[in-house]
Amino acid sequence: MNTQNRKRPLEGQRALVTGANTGIGAAVAEGLAAAGAKVLINYVSGRDKAEGLAGLIRAKDGEAIVFEADVSREDQVRAMFEAALDTWGSLDILVNNAGLQKDAPLVDMSLGDWEQVIRVNLTGQFLCAREAAKEFVRRGVQPGLSHSAGKIICMSSVHDTIPWAGHANYAASKGGVHMLMKTLAQELAMHKIRVNGIAPGAIKTPINVNAWATPEKEAQLLELIPYGRVGYSEDVAKAAVWLASDESDYVTGATLYVDGGMTLYPGFESGG
Ligand code: NAI
Ligand code: BGC
Repeated sequence: MNTQNRKRPLEGQRALVTGANTGIGAAVAEGLAAAGAKVLINYVSGRDKAEGLAGLIRAKDGEAIVFEADVSREDQVRAMFEAALDTWGSLDILVNNAGLQKDAPLVDMSLGDWEQVIRVNLTGQFLCAREAAKEFVRRGVQPGLSHSAGKIICMSSVHDTIPWAGHANYAASKGGVHMLMKTLAQELAMHKIRVNGIAPGAIKTPINVNAWATPEKEAQLLELIPYGRVGYSEDVAKAAVWLASDESDYVTGATLYVDGGMTLYPGFESGG
């Protein structure tokens, strides 16, 4: 049975990853494909990068399609799920990864920037989770494919826990993701659907390039990371593959912090 295949624990499964043409999403899509899943690579801009990733996956005998959609738009999200179902007949894994930052001190933060971050980071996860859950409930468990009827992974952040001055919209969106994830996990468990979160710490991607682009900046950032290195997208991808597989079959409603200890209050190492 596929679930016994440790090297390719997702063999035959179908995954949709949002915001998958760069950074963490790209590594997650690649990781899921290497584990045997077919992947839909969602992007909102940068089709070339999405196609490049799909080509990379296909070159390794994987299966990938690309789809342009803004996750904050209901019509576009619906069209994306329809495309996945038309292509593969069903879906097994959703990775709600798309996200952005629009940083500003509170007094300078525009309503537009507040709303955009909430719309993409939080409403986008709701819209995608809703479409995925409809299909998972309709189809139920497919014996031989997975013990679950479906898996939803919500990309959160250490800032679902750590307050972040100058990023009120972002921290609020990730705090929202945390409770959205837990509530969906509670609501969907009876359907054998597992919902979990990943809360990355500082991972080197385009979203935070200013925090690690120079040795000085990186040294400053490392003061917040007890484990002594900045994370890579692959660190997060490995967690996503595990959460999507039957290896984590009894895990639902959990947030896995992949953060090199950023949430361990590093200031207390020598203080307090
Ligand atoms: P990134 O900027 O490389 O990736 C974000 C992706 O989301 C991009 O592909 C972007 O085009 C896409 N996106 C933005 N708006 C979208 C929309 N409306 N519809 C569809 N896609 C959209 O940055 P990264 O770091 O890979 O971010 C991925 C996720 O990880 C985000 O949710 C972010 O909040 C989260 N995260 C990142 C951390 C880091 O240190 N890099 C730490 C904690 C969480
Ligand atoms: C943010 C990054 C930041 C990291 C750690 C993430 O949620 O998107 O910009 O480096 O948290 O603070």
